[in-house]
Amino acid sequence: MSLDRPLTRNVRADRSPTDMAAYEANGGYQGLKAAVGKLSPADCLEILKDSNLRGRGGAGFPTGMKWSFVPMGDKCSPGDKYLICNADEMEPGTFKDRLLLECDPHQLIEGMIVAAYTLQANVAYIFIRAEYFKAAALLREAIAACHQKNYLGNNILGSDYSLEIHIHASAGRYICGEETALISSLEGKRANPRAKPPFPQVSGLWGRPTIVNNVETLCNVHHIIERGADWFKSLGLTEDAGTKMYGVSGRVKRPGCWELPMGTPVREILEEYAGGMADGYSLKGFLPGGGSTDFLVGEHLDLAMDYETIGKAGSRMGTGTMIILDDKTCPVGFVKNLIEFFARESCGFCTPCRDGLPWSAQVLDDIQHGRGRDEDMDTLARQVKFIGAIGNTHCALAPGAMEPLQSAMKYFPEAFEQHIQGSCRHCSGGGH
Ligand code: NAI
Repeated sequence: MSLDRPLTRNVRADRSPTDMAAYEANGGYQGLKAAVGKLSPADCLEILKDSNLRGRGGAGFPTGMKWSFVPMGDKCSPGDKYLICNADEMEPGTFKDRLLLECDPHQLIEGMIVAAYTLQANVAYIFIRAEYFKAAALLREAIAACHQKNYLGNNILGSDYSLEIHIHASAGRYICGEETALISSLEGKRANPRAKPPFPQVSGLWGRPTIVNNVETLCNVHHIIERGADWFKSLGLTEDAGTKMYGVSGRVKRPGCWELPMGTPVREILEEYAGGMADGYSLKGFLPGGGSTDFLVGEHLDLAMDYETIGKAGSRMGTGTMIILDDKTCPVGFVKNLIEFFARESCGFCTPCRDGLPWSAQVLDDIQHGRGRDEDMDTLARQVKFIGAIGNTHCALAPGAMEPLQSAMKYFPEAFEQHIQGSCRHCSGGGH
């Protein structure tokens, strides 16, 4: 049976990704035509809520519920509302949004138009990772083509709804992807996260109601409005609806990114799509959804990759892009590499993150390079407990950084112990 893969239906090597005629010939902009001026924003919101779409940036928050927090009609004070597409994809091991942006920019634009219409926002931004200049150029082309067709601009398709979409290149920091830091950055300020509440849905860009959604989330919106909530729910294999862009990186035969039904088992993604482990390597563990998720191991291979199941197993699906740890790579060095990344990317606002992450990285470096002491494990355990607790830090960056560390200590304690005793099996055996 052929799979319904709405998000990648236009991913083809034989045409330009910005070819408007080809996009329309394959059903493109039908979602926009079904929504703008035809359905009320309230009807669109109901369909979205019913669809059970959850945010694809990593947190999995229900999209319809998030949108319903935006004050509408009489409840909203006069002034603008904003939609922001978070295209600041910087989670380690994550490259799913890049594929969607570079292969089908019109899909994101159409999703954003329908989303902005639902929210009655007249201005939208695509906040894009600085290095994604190819995607930014394609998006600019797609936006210009939409103006020609009156899919953007004033009175879209003769309706009373108008929308402008602007592209803003990120300053190039991981923290800029945190929604409130992103908003600060867009306002021209230092990209420090803000305390929540108030959530951006009520007080976001310039203090106005703002929705920030990930690229993949927004790419789903017009498909759902056009084809209905039941269709979307039928795509998933488990409770979580839709399809998902899954990815695999590490020592596998075919690292890559695939659109598959939500809830596809981990083993199927790893063995059928990524081709299994590369010759000479076996699986030691995997981070299910980028560098800020907890390790899972072989016993979890038959789990469904969805928010609920991976959450119950003690990790998070996160971005859905797995990073594989093989048997020849030292878990201590692997985790140290991640913690160093997060330490470098900290905004420096709160002490546990600014000082705690470099400290953790230093302890790991000592352990890795033969300077470790038994009490270092207690130090790391205390760090994990303190920094990893939501509420002790200003945002989720440092708790996220602690996830691979705490789970490496749980699943691979022998690697730490062997290092402290001066003989790591991975490192002495020519591992990495
Ligand atoms: P979060 O759970 O705090 O928020 C997620 C979304 O739900 C936000 O838009 C927030 O406004 C909304 N929300 C949450 N609780 C709410 C409430 N009580 N009322 C109203 N709205 C609420 O998570 P956060 O910090 O936005 O994102 C963390 C995730 O981001 C991590 O899971 C990580 O995997 C992922 N991430 C992804 C990256 C990427 O490149 N795709 C980069 C960095 C992190």
